[in-house]
Amino acid sequence: MKGIVLAGGKGTRLRPLTYTGAKQLVPVANKPVLFYALEDLVEAGVRDIAIVVPGDFQMGREQIIAAVGDGHRFGARVTYIEQDAPRGLAHGVSICRDFVGDEKFVVFLGDNFIREGIAGQVQAFRDGAMNAVLLLYRVPQPQGLGIAVVQDGRVVELQEKPAVPKSDLAIVGIYLLDRHFFQAAAGLQPSARGELEMTDALSRLLELGYDLRPHIVQGYWIDTGKHIDMLDANRLILDTIETRIEGDVDEQSKVYGRVALEPGARLVCSVVRGPAIIGRDAVIMDTFIGPFTSIGDRCRISGSELEHSIVLEDSVVADIGTRIEDSLIGRNVQLRRSEAKPRGHKLLLGDNSEVGLA
Ligand code: DAU
Repeated sequence: MKGIVLAGGKGTRLRPLTYTGAKQLVPVANKPVLFYALEDLVEAGVRDIAIVVPGDFQMGREQIIAAVGDGHRFGARVTYIEQDAPRGLAHGVSICRDFVGDEKFVVFLGDNFIREGIAGQVQAFRDGAMNAVLLLYRVPQPQGLGIAVVQDGRVVELQEKPAVPKSDLAIVGIYLLDRHFFQAAAGLQPSARGELEMTDALSRLLELGYDLRPHIVQGYWIDTGKHIDMLDANRLILDTIETRIEGDVDEQSKVYGRVALEPGARLVCSVVRGPAIIGRDAVIMDTFIGPFTSIGDRCRISGSELEHSIVLEDSVVADIGTRIEDSLIGRNVQLRRSEAKPRGHKLLLGDNSEVGLA
């Protein structure tokens, strides 16, 4: 079976982080979310993988290629296929027609994250006679997602972001498909948002009489394309880490609970209460790091308190008097308290930044 990872798109909901980087590379527990998708595919025995990347340099194509390379460190063979513009999920899959050939295949949206992996479903689909398996997840408010209606063990109807959903089963961004998908996608027209919708292609498969089966995901599913979901995903992954102290903890510092301290990281007069991860060569000084926090490589954190937050690489947080929580701080950010007069907040914030001052 082949794999397709869709890593195009605009990442508008994660701005400003995604102005300078692909949203699929925003890290969860210090690992890009895209890597979890690749690991899930390889674990399921899907090693031949195409990553659909944006044709435009601005949107992170080069960064994705630099991060994943030829895929060998994941145990995969990775091919890159450029999508000229974000014309929709069904378009992104259709341009992989030659790559897939007549094999069955898995489509994984590069910003989706599921805890239980996909090995069982891939095995069942490989051996089964159905034309597609849709992973579904029960959500209280499914309006902003694709929706499936299931009857007698089959998917019978699909809706994309309906105002009035016909079920509470959201379509997870992981689809197991066979070659009939390309036939269904061929005649699609762009939707109201101007995209060739995956959900429309799947509806067409139903109209053509093909057999679509549901699999309801029991563990966690997160669409990390939104800020709050990144913090949720970070919390879930950190909840599974084991203690690993490869950096340096000085005598005045304390580590409680499960903490990963990467090589070269230093704790000086600080307390870290896990689960938390501190990246390579980061220095944490006179600081409290609370649960569910990921500090990126080479960050410098001093005289501060952080909890339930993500700080990306090379950022500095210094002498902040109030606790930072529920926050997502990008790369190379400088956040400092200064005693210089006149006193006041001095901000240099990119477009679409969000700051909550207490
Ligand atoms: O996350 C699950 C949802 O994903 C499903 O419930 C919906 O049915 C499905 O339409 C999709 O909805 P989104 O609106 O959240 O999709 P989004 O535009 O965020 O794109 C998802 C991923 O696919 C993202 O990693 C970017 C990539 N993508 C997107 C488009 C539109 C591409 O590679 N090419 C594209 O043209």
